[in-house]
Order: sequence, then C-alpha cells, then structure tokens
Amino acid sequence: MQLFDLGVRIKVNDITISYYDEGEKHKPVIIFIHGFPFNKQMWNMQVLALRDEYRVIAYDIRGHGYSDSGIADFSVELFAKDLIEFMDALSIIKATICGLSLGGYIALNAVINHQDRFASLILCDTNCIADSEETKEKRIQTIENIMEKGVPAFAEEMIKSLFHADSFTTKTNEIDKVRSMIENTSEQTLSKTLVALSMRSETCSRLNKIRIPVLIIVGEGDVITPPDAAIKMHNKIATSSLVILPLAGHVSNLENPSEFNAKMLTFLS
Ligand code: MLT
Repeated sequence: MQLFDLGVRIKVNDITISYYDEGEKHKPVIIFIHGFPFNKQMWNMQVLALRDEYRVIAYDIRGHGYSDSGIADFSVELFAKDLIEFMDALSIIKATICGLSLGGYIALNAVINHQDRFASLILCDTNCIADSEETKEKRIQTIENIMEKGVPAFAEEMIKSLFHADSFTTKTNEIDKVRSMIENTSEQTLSKTLVALSMRSETCSRLNKIRIPVLIIVGEGDVITPPDAAIKMHNKIATSSLVILPLAGHVSNLENPSEFNAKMLTFLS
C-alpha cells in the first residue's frame, strides 16, 4: 500500500511532486497541505478517516517529504502555483482544500486567487497576517541557528512550541513522528521556507471576498497561531464556522484526531 510510504509522483512545473491519492477517483476530492516543516504523513489519520467517502489527496510541498525542491526561491505564491498546477496535472477541476499553518497560508492564497477551483476550505491552526518585523528577525536567527547547530537541535527546539501541554505525556508517538518529519527536512528547505514565510503577504484584507464554505479549526493551546487569530479570520469570512479544539496545540489534527475528524466530517457532509 502506498499510504504511509513514498506515495506516487507526478511532474508539476519544474519539479516532481510526491502525493497520496486514496479513495475512488469519481468521488469528491479533498486535498491536504501540511505545515512547516512536516510532510504529507502528518495527514495519515485524516486520509484513513475519509478515503471510503472521498478521493483523498495529501502531497508534499516542494522541498519537503519526497517532493523535489527545484532551483527557484520559495514563496507562498510559488507553493500556491504548484497547488493549482498539481490539480491541473491530475485533471481536478474542483476540490475541497485543507491546510494547516503554512498549508493554510497556501490554501488561502490559492482560494483568494482561484476561488472557482475550490468547493470549500478548511483552515487549521493558521493565520492571515504577514510576519511582523520581530518575527522576520526571529526567522533569520533560526536560519543561523540551524546552520550552526544542525537540524536535530532545531527540531527539539521547535517541538516545544508545537504541542498542547498534555500532549507531552499523552502523545509521545505523535511527537516522535513530528520530530522525525522535521529531522528529515533538509537544511536548504528549512532555510528557503523560513525566508518564504517571512516574505509572505497578508491575506486578512481579502478574506471578505471568500464565498465558499469555510471551516476554521484551531487547537485551544496553539501558541504559534492562537485561537485569537482564528477568531479574527472567522469574523472576516461570512461563510465560516469556527471550532476551538480541546487538548490540542498547533498540530491539532495529530493531537486530537477523533474530534478533528468528527468536525471535518460534519462540515464536509
Ligand atoms: C507552520 O506550522 O507551518 C509554521 O509554524 C508556520 C509559521 O511559522 O508561520
């Protein structure tokens, strides 16, 4: 079985994208986009929960997982362009899109610019603001730290802010999986994506253009993109509903998969 493994591959733009494609091809399509610096495996629980009723696709953003990096500098615009061309390459005219954090930045950019390609949108633990000057400086510092101390030290540091306090005792397998996803991301991808994150444009001022149904999910203990940020997006999107997930931090789909999946299934149906 391809799931949990390499996935299948398709040429898109200048790169080859690795993805899971589960469920029957004629069923409604849902595409999952992971956060930084993870890969498509972070969606395994959701792929399993949905694949009987949907065509479920989870792909690796360029440079992450098993997708090629290409030579271009990374940007959220380039990641969104990859998404649209990935859909074109698979002849997918319309899909529901679900993105977590960086995946949410990409999904928002794609929906705002190509709304006709999307049936609905699920935004998880994400935000619509651009980086502040302080956050930009922290990203540069992080790049320097990675070059100096290496990726495992970066993974250890990042994990501290990713999870709900309870998850450190109840979700040790998930933490190990996240650690391994981060450690398997190259220094080059980490640096290029940190620059892309710091350069991204805000999308808050265009949220009122969204007309498709939107589900916003955020972990109650998310300190990276906190519930306040989700509430602000919810207030700007007329068609949105909001779920604040208990016992979850920034990776809410991994920390509380049963409630996450239940909310997602209700929204989709
Ligand atoms: C992510 O999970 O994708 C990142 O934490 C996003 C960010 O740092 O802005």
